[in-house]
This record gives sequence, structure tokens and C-alpha cells, in this order.
Amino acid sequence: MAELLGGWHRSHMCAEVAGVAVGQKVTVMGWVQKRRNLGGLVFIDLRDRTGILQVVVDAARAGQETFERAGDVRGEYVLAFQGEVSARQGSQINERMETGHVEVLADAMKVLSESAVLPYNLEDERISDQLKYKYRYLDLRSPAMQARLKTRHEVCRVVREYLSNQGFLEIETPMLCRSTPEGARDYLVPSRVFPGNFYALPQSPQLYKQLLMLSGYDRYFQLARCFRDEDLRADRQPEFTQIDMEMSFVEMEDVMRVGEGMINEVYRAVRGIERTEPWLRMPYAQAIETYGSDKPDMRFGMTLQTVTEIFANTTCALFAPAIAGGRISAIKVDGGAKFTRKEIDALAEVAKLYRAKGLAWLVPGNPPRGSVAKALTETEINALKDCLGAGEGDLILMVADVKPDVASMALGQVRLEVGRRMGLMDKDAYCPLWVTEFPFFEYDEGEGRYVAMHHPFTMPMDEDLPLLEENPGAVRAKAYDIVINGVEIASGSIRIHSAELQERMFGLLGFTHEQAWERFGFLLEAFKYGPPPHGGIAPGLDRLVMLLTGADSIRDVIAFPKMQNANCLMTEAPNVVDKKQLEDLGICLAENRKQGENQA
Ligand code: AMO
Repeated sequence: MAELLGGWHRSHMCAEVAGVAVGQKVTVMGWVQKRRNLGGLVFIDLRDRTGILQVVVDAARAGQETFERAGDVRGEYVLAFQGEVSARQGSQINERMETGHVEVLADAMKVLSESAVLPYNLEDERISDQLKYKYRYLDLRSPAMQARLKTRHEVCRVVREYLSNQGFLEIETPMLCRSTPEGARDYLVPSRVFPGNFYALPQSPQLYKQLLMLSGYDRYFQLARCFRDEDLRADRQPEFTQIDMEMSFVEMEDVMRVGEGMINEVYRAVRGIERTEPWLRMPYAQAIETYGSDKPDMRFGMTLQTVTEIFANTTCALFAPAIAGGRISAIKVDGGAKFTRKEIDALAEVAKLYRAKGLAWLVPGNPPRGSVAKALTETEINALKDCLGAGEGDLILMVADVKPDVASMALGQVRLEVGRRMGLMDKDAYCPLWVTEFPFFEYDEGEGRYVAMHHPFTMPMDEDLPLLEENPGAVRAKAYDIVINGVEIASGSIRIHSAELQERMFGLLGFTHEQAWERFGFLLEAFKYGPPPHGGIAPGLDRLVMLLTGADSIRDVIAFPKMQNANCLMTEAPNVVDKKQLEDLGICLAENRKQGENQA
């Protein structure tokens, strides 16, 4: 039977006892990590989130009844002890434990809770995801999870302090919003009061923060929950948190200074990394051409070289189509000559996954080997070797395509795969950079129209404004991304603050005047009343903590994350609801969507 606290007050957390003077009386509480009955003594490792403490129960001191009860407790029972701090002697000292020099000699014990036999061994790291997430509350007891959530808290604390010191106000914005299409799919919430009407959960507080600038709040931030119904990956969850911020009367430089300063401060406070040199800035086009990605992983070199010109007169059937208007992109893998055919074929599969027609390879030597060794002339091979600085032990990998970006991006993915295989991605590294000068528009082939690459409220570059109607594809945005170790950590931009320009942009994005007013009327109306120039940025908190803790997925830094299908194994959400609830909302399910049939 669970005992009550009955007036006992915890005096110390487990690890704190390491700093308590020998002979002092303490009251400690926690979970049983381990119990051993040895030579007339019971040793209990008591655990809380600070660490583990050894408690010794001796019948002579604690009494026979307590001794017997202590000898029967099992793992994960919740116990309280009153006792005296004692120094461990000689071989009893455990240097690997923070509290390894001391132990508590129990005077009295309470069993505050018993625990059923656990569904799995908490120390088993090979546990299946099914079990781990069904019993997430048990998984959260692991020191690794507790350390990561502690780091997450620390990041939030540093961010709040940093931004408050810079004059930012933390302001909350609604969760129940109006659906404003563009971007990902919305999560919808039906209204009871207005049957047939829906709120949308915010994909981000974008429009609210812009309105707060119009209202004169000058500098806003929020640790904002965002919701997006999109396909999940290791760095994507349906609900996640942004460190959302917005500033008035600023240009790109001002926002970038605050963003860079804040992230540097987080790395300093949490990881002890002092970084004084300014971050690199790389225009989007350069990032694509030299890293094959708009989120370049700068932890290793192996940059992409454009070698199209070397093959201007080539007879190689694979390369020839890319000469006029396309691109041939190449990387040199140092020491890559030892890659097996199987390994190279696997890299070719990566290239194909990213729309390349194939992956050409060449090992320079006498004679050269590789898929294009026979198709290239000696002059071409020599020029290629010179351009890449490749020698006999190296491997040259190439992708040619009529679409320049396809060549670069496919080879960029091959570069990452090679980097992964060769162990070039140091998890502890801190390699941040800004990617700038993004194209404003991106052509959506599915929809047959331009869409905004960032979002439609982004300001085009001043010098590109004249190109808006005649050559939209060439217009660059005042947008900037933070990339760390190849992960997109933040996006931001300077916003349009003129209702006319905003309407013009909506027009270019394919909205009629009526549609623009129908969807974004409240913003266009607001912009009539004196919006200041403004801009902002939103680092993803989950991704940042993932990098700081070396976790493989943002699931490992979120207390209760969702699974691949956006479901929760623990609570079994989403789930069916009472018929009455649906009736209240005026919702009738279609025949093929009857409740319970759509469970993933
Ligand atoms: P964006 O959509 O680029 O910009 O999001 C900003 C940052 O949020 C994080 N992020 C995610 N993290 C986890 N799971 C997801 N599904 C997910 N989606 C995005 C990323 C990303 O860089 N309102 C703009 C910001 C602005 O312009 O100020 C916005 O939301 O780290």
C-alpha cells in the first residue's frame, strides 16, 4: 500500500547529497534504480532527475521491519528515506558516480508508490519504437531523455533572456486562427457556434506578428507552437515550436545580427562554444552550385565543381546533352579509388532518387577506370584532373543534366552520402552560415503557376523590383535562412509593408483582386493604417535542440512527439469521438470515412 508523505519534506535531490557534510541528516525521495541484498545489508540505488544516490538499510540502525521491507522493494518503486550522510570507504568509493563518495545510512523508510513489473527493461536501448512510444512516460525516465529535455529548457531560458535584453516582448498569439492557404496543409478545428465553419491551427504566427509590428510593439518574440499537416521526417513533426521573432524599422542586417547573436549565445551557454568570427554568407545560387543544396553542410569540403566547359566539344553521349544550357557537376572523393563497384552503384541510386539520369565515375590513373573512362578523351580527363586536383587514389563522381539544378542537387545528395560513409559529419561541430538571395518565386509544375519560395509577405530585393512582371523567375527575395551542420534551422525575411505592393505580389502569385481580399483582406485592410517597415525570423526550437544534443531526430527532444503517421501511440490520438460531439458540431461523416475505419 502506498504510504503518504505524512509530514516528511525532501531536504535534497539525490545528486545534491554529494555536497552535503558527512554526519548531516537528510530526507531523500526517488525511484528504485537497483536493489541488492548483501551480507545483512540492503543497498538501494535511489534515482531522481539529478542522478543516483546509494542508500544503505541496516536492521541495527533502521529496525528489523524496515530492513525486511527494504529487502522486498522492486525496481521503480518510489521510496522516501530519512538518514545520515556517511563517507564511503576504500573500495566502496565509486568514481563513476557523482555521489560515489557518499551514501545515506537509512533511519526510516516510506514506500510512497509500488510499481508493476515494467513492460520492458528501461536500460535496453534496442527497444522497439512501438513499445518506447506507447510507454513514453517510462522512456522519459531515461537519463538521456532527461538530459535532452533539460538542454531544451536551458535553450528556452537563454533565448528568453537574450531577447528580453534586446528589448523584445514575449506576446502570445491565437491557436484558433483563420485558414490562410499557401504553405502546408492546415489542421482544422470545427466551430460549434458557426456550424460548417472551421478554425485552422497556426502553421506559424506569421500574420499576427506582422500585425503586432503595425500595432507598435516594435520587437516581438514567442516560443510559438506551430501545426502543419505534412509528411513527417526526422526533422519534421506535425506540431513543433518556433522561436518566432519580428522587429520594426529594420533591414536584413539588423535581423541577421540578432539571429546570429542569439544562436551564438545559445551555443556558448549550452555547449561552451565561443564563436567570435561572423558567420559565412552564401547566396542561394552559390549554395546550389557548390554544395548542391540550399542547406549546405559545411562540416566537410568535397565541394561541387561545375566542369561543363571542359566537355564543350565532347562526344560522350552522357554529357553532350548537358552542354548547351545544362550543367555537368563533379566532386573529387579523396582516396575514393578504393570504393567497390557495389558502393558506387549504391551512390548512383542516390543520384537517381534525386532525378539524375545516372552517376558517372572515373578513377584517374594509367589507364583510367570508370563508367566514362572510355567515352572521354585524354585531354578531357587531364583537364578534369587538373580542375579537381585529382590523383591516382581519388574517385571523381559526376552528374550531367539539361537542368543545371538537377545536376547539382543530385550530386549534392551523393556528396552527403559519401560524407556520411566516410564519417566526415562530426556531430559536435558547430558550422553555421546564412543562405541569402533566395529566388522570390518558384515554379510549381503541379499547379502550373509561380508560388512564393518563402512566403507571399516577403519583400523582393529593391534592385529586382523592376523585374517583377517581366522576369519573375529572376527576382530575388529579402530572405535569409540559418543553416547549421546541413540542417535548416531558421527562415526569415523583410516583409512587404505596402498594401499596393502586397496586392501586386498576390496578383503575380495567381490570386485575383477578389481572391486576395477574400483570403488576406484583414491584412490588406490593416496595412492601410500605417505599417512600419519590418522583418523577422523563426528558428525551429526542436531542430536547434536536436543539433545541440547530438540527437538523430527531433522526436528525441520533444517530450510527447507523434509517430510517422502523426499519431500518438500512448494516448492513441487521433481517435473517434462521441456521436453527440459530432452532432453538436453539425458534422456528419461520409460513408467511407466512418469512425474507426481510417485508423492508420
Ligand atoms: P518556416 O516555414 O521556414 O518559416 O519555418 C521556420 C523554421 O521552423 C522549423 N520548422 C519545423 N520544425 C519541425 N517540424 C516542422 N514540420 C517544421 N517546419 C518548420 C524549421 C524552419 O527553419 N513564418 C516563417 C518565419 C519567418 O518568416 O519569420 C516560417 O514559419 O527550423
